[in-house]
Amino acid sequence: MTGAIQETVCVTGAGGFIASWLVKFLLERGYRVIGTVRDPDEEKNAHLKRLEGANERLTLLKADLLDYESIVRAVKGVDGVFHTACPVTDNLDIVQGPAVQGTLNVLKACSESNVKRLVLTSSLGAIYMNPARPLDDVVIEKCWSDTDYLQQTKNGYCLAKTLAEHAAWDYAKKSGLDMVVINPAVVLGPLLQSTLNASTSHILKYLTGSAKTYANFCQAYVDVRDVAQAHILAYETPSASGRYVCADRVLHRGELVDLLAKLYPEYPIPRKCSDERNPRAQPFKISNEKIQNLGLKFLPFEQCLKDSVSSLQERGFINTL
Ligand SMILES: NC(=O)c1ccc[n+]([C@@H]2O[C@H](COP(=O)([O-])OP(=O)(O)OC[C@H]3O[C@@H](n4cnc5c(N)ncnc54)[C@H](OP(=O)(O)O)[C@@H]3O)[C@@H](O)[C@H]2O)c1
Repeated sequence: MTGAIQETVCVTGAGGFIASWLVKFLLERGYRVIGTVRDPDEEKNAHLKRLEGANERLTLLKADLLDYESIVRAVKGVDGVFHTACPVTDNLDIVQGPAVQGTLNVLKACSESNVKRLVLTSSLGAIYMNPARPLDDVVIEKCWSDTDYLQQTKNGYCLAKTLAEHAAWDYAKKSGLDMVVINPAVVLGPLLQSTLNASTSHILKYLTGSAKTYANFCQAYVDVRDVAQAHILAYETPSASGRYVCADRVLHRGELVDLLAKLYPEYPIPRKCSDERNPRAQPFKISNEKIQNLGLKFLPFEQCLKDSVSSLQERGFINTL
């Protein structure tokens, strides 16, 4: 994707892991970008100001998802909006606040500002968490996570993403707002920001030795650069619509640690499963055909892992042995 696009777009939560790559690619494509951050002067957003094109075409605005007027100011006059901001935590407090109300604030502000298209960052967690789905069923865009199950299991993050996406679709349908949704799996890959984000800490614990075992669990993974490109494809392709599963591959945690141990035998990577009583969890099936048809080509997963680890080494989160 190259070119010089003469549009202004807003990215909420611009300093985040995914949003930083999105801002970088948007600037490279020629967009003017309004990035919302909670504290524009904070050191954790400094990397944004160093991106190519940032001096000329990036403006950072202070905004909080729960402060409606700050969101109105950020989206006023822009052509498109990428709503990525959301705390990534299992704390149930985020559900009604930044997740649901924050998303509705962004949609309302977009609708009132006649934004051409909103691309919402949801999650695969809003799609696949359903114990009633037979293991042979393929996880696709029409699937929804079971909110009762998420409540019962106190899975605050997936509950927040599921309820926020439901609320967003209800609002978009009522208001006529053009919304496209990206549903990424667990996102890994190189960091642009200096701070550690939640999904990267997922592999850091295996490299530092703080995790002595791995869980009997399967998850889908995707590279952060692919997630950012998926957002741009969803924005720029007029025919893009609905939801897009953005996942490269499903791995059992045992497979993930095996791969890490093969690539980095020098680190104390756990080789023991925490659950020795139950049979090994079987991977679920997933289709990423829809996003591939939009033009996304996934980066090789081994490259994604290597780039994640290099970035953790460069930032001093792990020593180079
Ligand atoms: N990483 C993954 O594995 C993954 C997978 C699927 C979906 N997603 C979704 O992708 C999006 C970005 O995730 P990420 O991994 O890039 O997370 P991240 O690095 O933690 O970024 C989250 C961003 O949200 C902002 N934010 C949080 N609460 C806010 C509020 N009340 N008002 C304004 N901004 C707020 C944060 O701003 P501050 O810097 O001010 O805290 C931060 O910039 C989220 O919607 C997440 O649910 C992530």
